[in-house]
Amino acid sequence: MTREPPPPDSVAAIYNYGLGGKDNRQLDRDIFDRLTEIDPGLPESVLAQREAVHRGARLVAELGVRQFIDLGSGLPAADGRNIYDTAAEVHPEDARVAYVDVAAVPAAHGRAMLGRIPPTLMVQADVRECRKVLKEAFELLDPDEPTGVIATALVHFWRSQPHAIWVLRSYLRAFRAGGYLIFSHGLADMDPDVREAMVKEYSHSGANMYPRTRDDIASFLDGLVLLRPGLIEASTWRPEPDVPARLVGEAKFLFAVAGFGPYGRTCPADQQHVPAGRLA
Ligand SMILES: C[S@@+](CC[C@H](N)C(=O)[O-])C[C@H]1O[C@@H](n2cnc3c(N)ncnc32)[C@H](O)[C@@H]1O
Repeated sequence: MTREPPPPDSVAAIYNYGLGGKDNRQLDRDIFDRLTEIDPGLPESVLAQREAVHRGARLVAELGVRQFIDLGSGLPAADGRNIYDTAAEVHPEDARVAYVDVAAVPAAHGRAMLGRIPPTLMVQADVRECRKVLKEAFELLDPDEPTGVIATALVHFWRSQPHAIWVLRSYLRAFRAGGYLIFSHGLADMDPDVREAMVKEYSHSGANMYPRTRDDIASFLDGLVLLRPGLIEASTWRPEPDVPARLVGEAKFLFAVAGFGPYGRTCPADQQHVPAGRLA
């Protein structure tokens, strides 16, 4: 099977602009602005997605997880906040995060952080090269500890769904049972004209995007145990009380956190089939 090449740096930069960051060029800003003309809810959706990632990471840290691997980690948002900051709020002594991104600018940021934040590691690689990524990540992370595997706004850049599922499962299997997958994906269930126009505009970045239907997105989580409230639009996933809801318009990102105990390599074989989408 031929795999499409990794996305260009523009993917990280377009998203960074959407988050109010400064690591982007005019062409990245132009693409995001044109996407926003097509769907005015995009800026709020991107912010809502990123906020959900931090809420998910916090919950997982509160459930006792101290180490994370952040696949397709991207660039810091305008507030400069990374997953380490959230994990360290819960585990100030021993939070650890391995960031993975193929793009040069996030990798440079990650390396620049290392001096300031010792318990982090930056792997610059294509996430789909699981063995290479894990070999480097294991310099910081312990495969025998429960782990938060973060794969948010990432796999919709990969055309082959079976291969994307296989890649994700490879990461889950690499760590012991009792960890959690923090996951989001671009949704295709919207006005088809809007969807087509967005995908076409996005391709000007040099990368293709493959939003999927709700059912297809749910299949990434088959056999895992979804934490409440399940797989839903990102802004509505465990919102902070007293924080006004973001006006995302039509849903663009579905978000979920799921326990991957049964897929952990230390789990007995007879636990390996959990009904799809079961809620914990
Ligand atoms: C839309 S951003 C999402 C950033 C972050 N995960 C979040 O949810 O806020 C997607 C990131 O994934 C990275 N990326 C996409 N495909 C990748 C791949 N095959 N390997 C490594 N990084 C990848 C891009 O460079 C970009 O930084």
